[in-house]
Amino acid sequence: MSNETIPNLESYDDDSLAKAFSALENLAKDDASALGAEDFRLRWLGRKQGLLNDVSSRYLKAAPPAFKKSVGERFKVLKELVEGLLESASGAGPSDAALAAEAIDITLPGTRRLIGAEHPITKTLNEIVNVFAALGYSVGVGPEVETDFYNFESMNFPPGHPARDTQDTLVVANQERRSQRDRLLLRTHTSPVQMRTMEQQPPPVRIVIPGKVHRNDAQDATHSPIFHQVEGLCVDTNITFSDLKGTLDHAMKALFGSSVKTRFFPSFFPFTEPSADVQISCIFCGGKGCRKCKQSGWIELLGCGMVDPAVFAFAAEKQPAYDPKKISGFAFGMGVERIAMMKYGISEIGQFYAGDMRFLGQFA
Ligand code: DAH
Repeated sequence: MSNETIPNLESYDDDSLAKAFSALENLAKDDASALGAEDFRLRWLGRKQGLLNDVSSRYLKAAPPAFKKSVGERFKVLKELVEGLLESASGAGPSDAALAAEAIDITLPGTRRLIGAEHPITKTLNEIVNVFAALGYSVGVGPEVETDFYNFESMNFPPGHPARDTQDTLVVANQERRSQRDRLLLRTHTSPVQMRTMEQQPPPVRIVIPGKVHRNDAQDATHSPIFHQVEGLCVDTNITFSDLKGTLDHAMKALFGSSVKTRFFPSFFPFTEPSADVQISCIFCGGKGCRKCKQSGWIELLGCGMVDPAVFAFAAEKQPAYDPKKISGFAFGMGVERIAMMKYGISEIGQFYAGDMRFLGQFA
C-alpha cells in the first residue's frame, strides 16, 4: 500500500523533488486530520512499514551520491513536519463543547469554612509544657501501645506485685507466646517514657512528656478510661527534694496564679522514694473551705517523688552513668483533664470528648 502512496520520482532535479515532497507533505497533513494520533504514528513513523521508512529507502538511499544532500534536506523537513503533526495530535485538548460543560461560575460566593481552634485539653497540655520549657526542660513523647517492661517492670512494679492493681490495665489479646516483659498493653501512665528517655541519653536530663493514657476504668463525672498526663523527669548530680518542691511550687503558681500555695503529703509510688502527693490551696475559695475542696481549703493535684534507685538500676543496664551513688533525680506526673477542669471550672469530664461545639467554642 505504501508503495502506491509514495509518488515515483521521475528524476532528482529540484522540480521533481519539490513536487514529490510537497505531495508527501499534503498527504501527511490530510492523514493527521483524518486519523487518530496512534494510527497516524503507525502509518508514518512505524518502524518497519512506516511511510517515512519507505521514503527514506526509495528516495534517500537510492539517490546517486551527487543528490544525497538535497534529498536529505527535504527528507529532514518532511520528518519534522510529521513529528510536529503527531505531537499536536497527541496533545490535543478537549473539545470546546467538553470545556463548556465543565465551566464553573467563578462569580458565585464560596463556602465559608469555620476556623479551627485548640481543644481545651491540647491548650492546657501546651500551657503545662510551656511552664517547664521556660525552666529549660525539653519535650518528649513515647508510644501509647507499650510493653509490660516499660509500663510496669522498669518502673519498679515487679510481675505479680500488688501495686499493679492500682492501674486497671487494658492489654492486647493473644500474646501468650511472648515473654511477660514483651507483652503489649495500652500504657496506663506516661511514666514509661522516663525509662525510654534515660535509655536514650545519659544524665543530665530535664524532660516533660505529655501524652494519652488508658485505664480500664468506668466513666463518671471525673474519670474517663482515656485521659492525658504530663510526666516530668529531672536527673543530675545533687538533685534534692528541695529542688522538687521549688520546681512544682513554681509550676503551680505559673498555672493557677501567684497567690496559690502548695503542700506535700507522704504518698506511695513504686518508682519514687520518698513519694508525695501535691496539694494546692483551693483556687475557688482561696483556702477558706468550700464545697469544691470539701471544706479542707486544699485540692490534691499531682504525684511526685525522688526517683527510686531501682529505676536507675534498670536505666543503668543501657546507660551506666545512671549510678544512684553519683546522681539523683525527681519525677512528677499530673492529669491534664483534672487541671483543665480546675482552671475552667468544668464539672463533667465527658464534656471534653463529646464534640459539642457550644462547649468547645468557649475555648476558641
Ligand atoms: N504515674 C503516676 C500515675 O499515673 C503519676 C506519677 C506519680 C508520676 C508520681 C510520677 C511520679 O512521675 O513521680 O498514677
